[in-house]
Amino acid sequence: MNYQLELQRAAEAALPVLGTGRVADYIPALAEVDPASFGLALATVDGAVYGAGDWEQPFSVQSISKLFTLALALATGGESVWHRVGREPSGTPFNSLVQLESENGIPRNPFLNSGAIVVTDRLLTLTGDAGRTVRDFLRAESGNPLLDTDPAVAASEAAHGHRNAALAHFIASYGNLENPVEDVLSNYYAHCALTASCRDLALSGLFLARHGLLADGSRLLSRSDAKRINAVLLTCGTYDAAGEFAYRVGLPGKSGVGGGILTIVPGRGALCAWGPALDRAGNSVGAVAALDAFTTATGWSIF
Ligand code: DON
Repeated sequence: MNYQLELQRAAEAALPVLGTGRVADYIPALAEVDPASFGLALATVDGAVYGAGDWEQPFSVQSISKLFTLALALATGGESVWHRVGREPSGTPFNSLVQLESENGIPRNPFLNSGAIVVTDRLLTLTGDAGRTVRDFLRAESGNPLLDTDPAVAASEAAHGHRNAALAHFIASYGNLENPVEDVLSNYYAHCALTASCRDLALSGLFLARHGLLADGSRLLSRSDAKRINAVLLTCGTYDAAGEFAYRVGLPGKSGVGGGILTIVPGRGALCAWGPALDRAGNSVGAVAALDAFTTATGWSIF
């Protein structure tokens, strides 16, 4: 396959829809991004990277970071995190509170904000600094030593974070946080506010395409845990649009309100697409269109 040509074709397929979504503005610092930006990168399991458009331009990682917090919490602390967070799709928006009360403070899955707050708490207990642990992982896997948290975005999230604070306090009221709410939230914002490019994220997601193996050949996760994370990405990674995403793209994927979507092609590679304008579920309109076009043209889907 001519990877470069397929990426360019997929990027072109995204162009007509780039104007149709809305850039996230509930975190004011995110609203400053140019909605016409678009990038697409493919990293193959041998570590080669191909890109189209703005594939080397850094953007706000946001909820894509939740994939890495989960992997690192499982790798460091084992299965016990699953006693504190479920792995079922929620059918609710990413920042919803409604299921938490009837389900006793156990979030439905690790990719909702509520679930990611619990996983961040676990990683904070295990490592002493969840934000830095995720950052260092991305630096190592992408080979980009400059990758870092954008302090302006983290501050903007904290200043407008009433909903996340409500989620964290509510979870704490059920005894499902080990650390003070303020510490958990600052670590959560630190990893959400990481800035990385499509290139960086595609390389950083490759461990899931390599069935748990890192760039240096060492093992982060068992093959079974890598399969399990891919399964939860498929069913929960794009929230209440996960059904439509599986239908159109057919890959495990994680979206973020910065407009990025990282998808895994097990055994082959990782694809990251970025377009800042979002649909109503909080997923990038341009990224979904490009990934749809790429998997349709290449047959690179898990189905
Ligand atoms: O907590 C938040 O709302 C953001 N830091 C992350 C939300 C997000 O990216 C949802 N994904 N589409």
